[in-house]
Amino acid sequence: MVGRGRHRRAVWIGGLGVLVLAALGGWAWWWLGTPRGEAPQAPQDPRAEQIARGSLYFQQSCVSCHTQGGIGPELTRGVLANYRTADRLFRYVSRAMPYDAPGSLEEQTYWDIVAFLLAENGMLPDDVVLGPETAPDVPLRRR
Ligand code: HEC
Repeated sequence: MVGRGRHRRAVWIGGLGVLVLAALGGWAWWWLGTPRGEAPQAPQDPRAEQIARGSLYFQQSCVSCHTQGGIGPELTRGVLANYRTADRLFRYVSRAMPYDAPGSLEEQTYWDIVAFLLAENGMLPDDVVLGPETAPDVPLRRR
């Protein structure tokens, strides 16, 4: 009798031990697998990043004239649509702008600015990062 009781208790404690270990293991698994720290991986979205860069460059190099009351025309959807494709808009802008220093920016900077202008006007397709390969296939429609 005594021997059996001890045996049962041992089984009981053993089982409990396994459960506790399993719970700890599960927790450790979760803890190790959960990203933490002050620099979580930013989701990579090249299109959003291009538009964000373009916005900054536009503020720096273009907005001084292309704002209400500035010497440059307002860059509306209708104005941009005159260029018919993103490629042609890029060619104009990269050769003629900024008006007081034409062609003075990096090529990539012009792509970023054009991407920003198109996105602002709802003319940049959802899956397009603008560049020499993609721009000829981006039509600029009035509406
Ligand atoms: C110093 C003032 C100035 C700056 C800076 C400037 N622009 Fe212009 N922009 C003008 C003027 C003036 C025109 C009209 C030019 C013309 O009619 O020949 C113009 C025309 C344009 C046009 C053509 C509009 C149309 O009616 O077809 C686009 C597009 C444009 N600018 C984009 C830009 C971009 C992008 C930048 C920044 C890289 C920029 N501009 C910087 C003054 C400026």
